[in-house]
Amino acid sequence: MIELIIENLDDMDKLAHTITTCYKPGMIICLDGDLGAGKTTLTQFIGKHLKIEDYITSPTFNIIKEYTDNMEFYHMDAYRLENSDDAYDLDIDRYIYSDGLFIIEWADRIRDILPDYSVYINIVFNIEDSMRKLSISGKGKYYDCLLEELKNNENFRN
Ligand SMILES: Nc1ncnc2c1ncn2[C@@H]1O[C@H](COP(=O)(O)OP(=O)(O)O)[C@@H](O)[C@H]1O
Ligand SMILES: [Mg+2]
Repeated sequence: MIELIIENLDDMDKLAHTITTCYKPGMIICLDGDLGAGKTTLTQFIGKHLKIEDYITSPTFNIIKEYTDNMEFYHMDAYRLENSDDAYDLDIDRYIYSDGLFIIEWADRIRDILPDYSVYINIVFNIEDSMRKLSISGKGKYYDCLLEELKNNENFRN
């Protein structure tokens, strides 16, 4: 597990950049943390570094949003799902086994159906100083890449 302190939006942007250096088609990023933790913000920064030109907005009401102009970029908010059966109704395998990037907010809701090579990022938000504590976990090539990239990265303290 990797633990990081994200002090501000600039740190979040830098982390997003580091994440995109580990991007390869098929990558899945799972974001958990309370409302306002920064899940959508992190997704927006990741999109920016992957040159997604459309403005990425929270998919709470659409549940899954697709951005496919220059790559397959899928953004899901599982908040309103009861369980993984609801996800199958959305044809979720299409996104899980895509040739792009699949980012899921509130991924804990459907964790049982996500591949073990998914990268899990949990954000704990301290409302008083607006600092975020991030825990990143997972296994497989995407997580291993992040572990390597973040280990020697001066931008983050932990
Ligand atoms: N690292 C950060 N530092 C300061 N403000 C942040 C940070 N991350 C997110 N925010 C702000 O917190 C608010 C809520 O973030 P959002 O990404 O919508 O949270 P979530 O998707 O987890 O509900 C936004 O106004 C955003 O600008
Ligand atoms: Mg959100």
